[in-house]
Amino acid sequence: MTLLLEVKNLTKKFGGLTAVNDVNFEIERGEILGLIGPNGAGKTTLFHLISGFEKANSGTVRFDGIDITGLKPYQIVNLGMARTFQLVRSFRFLNLLDNVAVAILSARGKAAFGEIGIDEAASTILSEVGLVDKARVPPVILPHGDLRRLEIGKALGTNPEMLLLDEPFSGLVHEEKEKITQLINRLRTEGVTIFVTGHVLRELMTLVPRVIAMHHGRLIAEGPPKEVANNRIVLEAYLGRGEEFA
Ligand SMILES: Nc1ncnc2c1ncn2[C@@H]1O[C@H](COP(=O)(O)OP(=O)(O)OP(=O)(O)O)[C@@H](O)[C@H]1O
Ligand SMILES: [Mg+2]
Repeated sequence: MTLLLEVKNLTKKFGGLTAVNDVNFEIERGEILGLIGPNGAGKTTLFHLISGFEKANSGTVRFDGIDITGLKPYQIVNLGMARTFQLVRSFRFLNLLDNVAVAILSARGKAAFGEIGIDEAASTILSEVGLVDKARVPPVILPHGDLRRLEIGKALGTNPEMLLLDEPFSGLVHEEKEKITQLINRLRTEGVTIFVTGHVLRELMTLVPRVIAMHHGRLIAEGPPKEVANNRIVLEAYLGRGEEFA
């Protein structure tokens, strides 16, 4: 296994609040790593820093051997890292096929799918995320679970080597969570490296072999989910906020 993502001493302050505080971790190529933490722990901010949506105050992010600290989101996408958003964002006035086609028009998407044609590639991706029968409808009429899978489809349009999934299970009923779990597992077997956040460990328990836990911007635990589930500091972080944990 080789290193794909290397995060060193990453720190982000919003005024007096340190949302990400001296965070260090690594992800191997082909690995699936989970990130948990109670509300406001800094998970989304960490994703923003890695994917170029926010600038860190200090620290570095290396991806595939390249220092990507401070690069723009599109530059990072074109190096092979794509992300989804905790609050789903689609192109409201485009149908699902065109939502994915826009992603395929990225430099990396075109390089990967240009030869087979944009529409056909978009259609294949929609099949992969289970939405091909809705290719011609606009996202506004879709249920939340479909929108979460569309998010993943748009990310796949850029032909990523690594996917950052910010709370892909959030707001979903059990059946929809299952579909996302299956999709993530399939992407994993196709060789995509995955970094996924979950609010509660239960969601990630069977999906990831390793998880890191965050609280007040700091990493407080790392290990197999079962081990982290029994970690006193992690339990206190959740219980201290009166939040459900597992
Ligand atoms: N743009 C911003 N300006 C000021 N404060 C911010 C900003 N973004 C995030 N924060 C603060 O940083 C902290 C971390 O927020 P973040 O959204 O990263 O947490 P999270 O772990 O993703 O939480 P959740 O589980 O609710 O998604 C919170 O206290 C939040 O209020
Ligand atoms: Mg978040």
